[in-house]
Order: sequence, then C-alpha cells, then structure tokens
Amino acid sequence: MENFFSVNDVEDVQELLKKAMEVKKNPLANATLGKHKTLGLIFYNSSLRTRISSQKAAFNLGMDVITLNIGSDGWQLESKDGAIMDQGTAEHIKEAAAVISTYVDVLGIRCFAGLEDRETDYNEEVLQNFIKHATVPIVNLESSTLHPLQSLADLVTIETHKKKDRPKVVLTWAPHPRALPQAVSNSFAEWMKKADVELVITNPEGYDLAPQFTEGVTVEHDQKKAFEGADFVYAKNWSSYDSYGQILSANPSWTIDADKMAVTNDAKFMHCLPVRRNVVVADEVIDSENSVVIEQAGNRVVSIQTVLQEFLKK
Ligand code: CP
Repeated sequence: MENFFSVNDVEDVQELLKKAMEVKKNPLANATLGKHKTLGLIFYNSSLRTRISSQKAAFNLGMDVITLNIGSDGWQLESKDGAIMDQGTAEHIKEAAAVISTYVDVLGIRCFAGLEDRETDYNEEVLQNFIKHATVPIVNLESSTLHPLQSLADLVTIETHKKKDRPKVVLTWAPHPRALPQAVSNSFAEWMKKADVELVITNPEGYDLAPQFTEGVTVEHDQKKAFEGADFVYAKNWSSYDSYGQILSANPSWTIDADKMAVTNDAKFMHCLPVRRNVVVADEVIDSENSVVIEQAGNRVVSIQTVLQEFLKK
C-alpha cells in the first residue's frame, strides 16, 4: 500500500480487517514500531474523533505527532496547477507537501468538499496534489468524497457484532438542517461492497449517491421496506449528488425511531458521529442497548493504527 486514499489502495480488505481485529484485541502489541517516527496531521476542517484517535493510535505505536490546522495556524494553500497566486493563498501544495515530507514519516490530511462544484470536489484536488507532491505515505482523514478510516472502523464494528456470516446492512439517509458531504456514505458503500455483507441503501428520491458507489447495490426509496430484516442500520445524512450540494428535503419522517427499528432483525444502530439527536435519530434509538455508536467511534483508533502499522512495517 503506497497511500491510504480509498479502499482501492487496499490489496485485500479481508486481510486488513483481520489485522484490525488483532489491533483491537491487543493495541499495544507494537508499542515501539513507530519509535523515532512522526505522524503529521493537517486539518482544513474541524474534528473530534479523527484528530484524537489518530494521536492515540500514533502513541500506541510509539510515534510522535505534529498537527497543523490550516486556516488558524497554517498558510492558506493553493491546490490549482498553474494558479496565479495573487489572491488569498500564500503557498502552493507543491512546496508544502514536499517540505512537510522532510519533517514527518506519514502524513494525514482532512479536507472536506466545498459542495459548490461537483467536478472540483469529485476530482479530489487537495488530496491528489498531496499524494503527487509528498514523498511520504498520505492517509485520507476525510476528503471531499471519501472517509476510508471511518469505513474501516465501521467494518470492525460490524465484524464484532455480526450474528451471521452475511449480515444485512442498511445505509439509510436521515434528515439534517445543514448540507453535508457524501464522503462517509460513498466510502461506506465501497467498503461494504468488498465485505461479506448484503448492502441495501435507502434514501429519498433525489438523494441517490454517485453511480460509481451504488453500482451493484440495492437502492430502496421506501425506508421501512429497506429496514425489514436488517442486522445493522447505519444512519447518515448527505446532500444531493444530482442537485449537487442541495438540501432537497428535511423530511422528519426519515428520522430513525423505535418504530422503524422494530421491523429489523434486532439491528444494531450505527452512526459515524457527530450526530444531531432527534433530527437524524431519536433518543430512544441512540440511547438503546442496540446502539453501538460509542464503540464504533472507539474503533477509529483501531482503523488508523492498522493503517499506520502497514506503513511502518514496510
Ligand atoms: N466521524 C468523524 O470523522 O468524526 P470527526 O469529524 O469528529 O473527526
């Protein structure tokens, strides 16, 4: 694995999952593997889980961590090739990526979608430029269209709680007052397609994800029908892909409540967090015994530690 940008960088997902389950069982098994190595973290956007779990995973491996917050303590970086830099950006990613590579051994970057121009977001200009110009492995901490560390943590959560070899996993759209990217949902779909699960995606008309992520997946516009017999319900809001970045509906009838969970196969409730209570999911569901959201967030340490180990062992 050269970088960890998407599931396509992973040679064998089942093998990586096996390694992740080992990390979960014994997080300090490789406590000196990263001695004298440094993890760099660049954040263009806010974070709770990604920031802290990355630091914790690095510490479990004996690594040091350097964090840079673009916007508050870093220069604004230019990502366009050939840009005439007479406006807000002070430094090009070409130099920044090369320079930071002399300071760190692995570099994680978070840069969300702007949700204004679909082509710009789906070209993944920032992450791809870092991959092109850095000389160390790049880890995607959530880019415009993908959140693979979240998906690997999700897969670990499903593996931990599944009661049958091929569980039914339902990814459901849920309402939200703000326009959110499709990254978590895109990534979840592409990872689940490589896992041993039956994946069903349910969303209102107008909210179908990009076809490259839904190809071969059942997309059901009737949420309750989709929930029938589900072993896992994964809730997430995303803005429209077709009417790019738009909120077409905030229909509260899509909120996950106990009535809907009642038609499942005693499903576990999942969400990547942060979550808007009683908008995305009712308290009665997220506070229920079947909610695994805290363990799921805890598995974020497992997912990045597994990926870091792959780079450190090279
Ligand atoms: N799920 C997730 O990535 O959380 P943060 O945005 O808090 O990092």
